[in-house]
Amino acid sequence: MVGLQKKLLDYASTGPENLRTMASTSLADPRLITLPASQEFVEPLMEQFYRGANEPERRAELVGPIVKLFQRARWNLPKSEEQQKIFYKILLPTWSVERGKLEENTRQLLQMEKDPVDWYVSQQIAGILHNNPDLQTPMLLTYYPKSFDTPMQERLWVPAVKWMLRFGQEVPEVGAEQQLPPEFAAVRDRSIDLFLKSLENKSDGRTRRAALSLAGDPIVRKHPKIAPLLAKASPQYFEKEPEEITKLSPAWRKNWEYFRDWVAPEMTKPNREDQMSCLGCHGVAGRVPSMELSNADDLGYVKMQGLASNYRALLERVNENSVEQSKILRKPLNVQSGKEDGHQGGRRFNPNDQGYKILEQWVRDAAKLKGQKLAAGNQ
Ligand code: HEC
Repeated sequence: MVGLQKKLLDYASTGPENLRTMASTSLADPRLITLPASQEFVEPLMEQFYRGANEPERRAELVGPIVKLFQRARWNLPKSEEQQKIFYKILLPTWSVERGKLEENTRQLLQMEKDPVDWYVSQQIAGILHNNPDLQTPMLLTYYPKSFDTPMQERLWVPAVKWMLRFGQEVPEVGAEQQLPPEFAAVRDRSIDLFLKSLENKSDGRTRRAALSLAGDPIVRKHPKIAPLLAKASPQYFEKEPEEITKLSPAWRKNWEYFRDWVAPEMTKPNREDQMSCLGCHGVAGRVPSMELSNADDLGYVKMQGLASNYRALLERVNENSVEQSKILRKPLNVQSGKEDGHQGGRRFNPNDQGYKILEQWVRDAAKLKGQKLAAGNQ
């Protein structure tokens, strides 16, 4: 396996064009691979990326596999700052002010028309950066623009707000305020400002759509600066809570909020390995009768009524007498032993994954509350 990987890497970076395409396509099985964020590896692939971007008819063939690979694979970022800078400089597109004013880049697209090169590049690189957490680093934040010269640059950065509002504290405790690191406060504010600006009607439709597509994310949605404007633009994402939720005690309410804001997004997040999310199986009617959940829409949003019923369904899988044995913690690890029969959905998490730690936080709190309720009932 290692030999194959090395060979593919060699082809992908130095091989003739046809081999390079083949190699990067085969490399797109991310289970095989951790990519080196080195100049030798990334530069030739980015050359192919730009060649494809400039030939709209061949974009799917030339660019598609590279984007898929860069988006899903694990990245091994160099330790040295110098090397990291080189990597991001190769990856991050820049545009001169003049390009931002070109007619092809400012007019509305006609139906079925392909995006002009600059916009295409912006959208594809955004897809890579904002979907692969390995690339979301303090170094990347140093490239966050102080001001924006072109609409493509705005489009490139607008989705960053979603991870930046978590960056540095991806796993908070139940009931605790999020403690985001103060050293990134300035860049975080800039990302909020860009987001708000992008919601305005006069911003380019492509950027505005990218901003609106984050409305399904609870951390973006409930941010005090964002909520009022987003509620006007996408009121359907600001539903009232179901009655059963409004009746929760303060302790249970915190547990619900953690579920809504932190656990629920994990259930709709595609797994890097097979691109399936929990709801991709459990949310499909009839697919998993033993635990059917309400599905999310295209933006990862589960309607409040459905979310409340998902909450109840998962709470039932919390074992207050033996937290570690809770089905909701065991199944996603797919442990197969004499006593356990694993998870038909396969391994969804490793114990050290952020998503799993979020789930654990919530389960521990829920087990505590469920235990207290029992104790209270027994008195
Ligand atoms: C590829 C499809 C698939 C995916 C993705 C998937 N599951 Fe499952 N899951 C199943 C199937 C099928 C079953 C029923 C058989 C079994 O128990 O393994 C199941 C069972 C379960 C059960 C046991 C339900 C019960 O009470 O019997 C839990 C809990 C569970 N899954 C949690 C999760 C979580 C959490 C995720 C996401 C992190 C997830 N699953 C992702 C297919 C999937």
